[in-house]
Amino acid sequence: MSNTIGLFYGTDTSNTEMVGQKIQQQFAELGSTVELHDVKDTDIETMLNYDFLILGIPTWDFGGIQSDWEDIGDALSALDLSGKTVALYGLGDQFGYGDFFVDAMGWLHEKLLNTGATFVGQWSTEGYDFEASRAANADKSEFIGLAIDEDQQFDLTDQRVEQWVIQLYAEQALAAA
Ligand SMILES: Cc1cc2nc3c(=O)[nH]c(=O)nc-3n(C[C@H](O)[C@H](O)[C@H](O)COP(=O)(O)O)c2cc1C
Repeated sequence: MSNTIGLFYGTDTSNTEMVGQKIQQQFAELGSTVELHDVKDTDIETMLNYDFLILGIPTWDFGGIQSDWEDIGDALSALDLSGKTVALYGLGDQFGYGDFFVDAMGWLHEKLLNTGATFVGQWSTEGYDFEASRAANADKSEFIGLAIDEDQQFDLTDQRVEQWVIQLYAEQALAAA
């Protein structure tokens, strides 16, 4: 199995791809290779080539799922990801869509719940201002993965990505990769 990390994203207006590139750069600084795949152009079985997966998804249309991810929802649920480590990141707009902030990241987590994957990269909700999110836990203290808001807090993106990648190392996610 490869030590290379597989990052899979879907995007409508490129923000999720751009954040994927920032994650890739940050891992490169730490000596790890990340391969980027747009789910629109990729056979979903490609995920099985990696032990460590990073999956990125934006939310559209009041809690809606980015269309390329939505198309493969059932195929995702059918994957056997046991032994694999998965970290999620989601793009959203907390002021424009505060009742649905990064909801699609919660959907992605739900789709993968029975695949056997181990999830890492949970992220504090501190510093965000939103009403509700499918990607947050019951007391709204944590998101299931990294939340990025390019619409309202683009100035925090680099710092959040850097901290999150360091956190993934600290969680020894790479030890399993
Ligand atoms: C029409 C529209 C609907 C949106 N709906 C949501 C939403 O329900 N929840 C959310 O968190 N963000 C929402 N957003 C914000 C997008 O998720 C955000 O702009 C994101 O960065 C887009 O990522 P992409 O460029 O990778 O497609 C919406 C944006 C637009 C323009």
